[in-house]
Amino acid sequence: MTYENIIVAKHGKVALITLNRPKALNALSPDLTRELGEALDVLEIDPTVAAVVLTGSEKAFAAGADIKVMKDWSYMDVYSANFITATWERIAKFRKPTIAAVAGYALGGGCELAMMCDFIIAADNAKFGQPEITIGTIPGAGGTQRLTRLIGKSKAMEMVLTGRMMDAVEAERAGLVTRIVPADQLISDALKTAEKIASMSMPIAMMAKDAVNRAYEVSLSEGIHFERRLFHSTFATEDQKEGMNAFSEKRPPVFKDK
Ligand code: HXC
Repeated sequence: MTYENIIVAKHGKVALITLNRPKALNALSPDLTRELGEALDVLEIDPTVAAVVLTGSEKAFAAGADIKVMKDWSYMDVYSANFITATWERIAKFRKPTIAAVAGYALGGGCELAMMCDFIIAADNAKFGQPEITIGTIPGAGGTQRLTRLIGKSKAMEMVLTGRMMDAVEAERAGLVTRIVPADQLISDALKTAEKIASMSMPIAMMAKDAVNRAYEVSLSEGIHFERRLFHSTFATEDQKEGMNAFSEKRPPVFKDK
């Protein structure tokens, strides 16, 4: 499928989605987020895709929701349309592993979109922020919640109240990103990481993701209960047999996603 605001490319079992409105610093227009949602719908049921990398340009992952589109919307416009729509948050519900590869600005909705992915790899020029307050609004795509869970109240509160940006080093120290790589190696590094994940059993990787994500939703005992049930269910798969037999036979496993 071809899109106007994103590019989708396959690298083996990894799909690379590139946000592609460079002139607007990948501002997240309704058309872009609709296309992103459509692409993810396709990739989720494509058995040849085991992981997704989401990226932008070297200057901007995404500089936020499109301010020029939003600026004249009324309360009823955003309330009736339930802005943000489900397409915006589609990636948070995506069942296969997702990596945000962030170079340049990840601001407002851009930072929120990156945080909807399973983890973030940052280029050394990455800058994260929730500057909505500087334009008279607040984060509306999970920023006040996901950022707070990821980096704690104090830093999240400061960023949301002042609009201050965090550079890659601070973001890594704070736990927002998993690691920093040189900007020119961002895509290759993210693809390599995704390919590593894609070399595992896809259903097992999906269960692992599901279990980690549950930690953000439920109490510790409920989370551990959920994990235990999923752990037990891995023993119903052929890939668990293959993985453990391969270890015993001192050979690499050949997973069949079954
Ligand atoms: C629309 C945007 C945009 C945005 C940049 N552009 N960000 N257009 N919406 N969010 C456009 C600019 O208008 C300009 O277009 C072009 O991209 C280049 O941007 P410049 O500002 O000229 O670049 P620079 O001077 O390098 O500054 C980069 C920047 C700045 C610091 C990232 O662009 C900026 O502050 N952008 C807005 C960041 C922001 O407030 N984001 C939060 C949005 S609200 P022209 O046509 O003039 O060349 C949000 C709410 C989410 O995300 C809630 C849930 C939906």
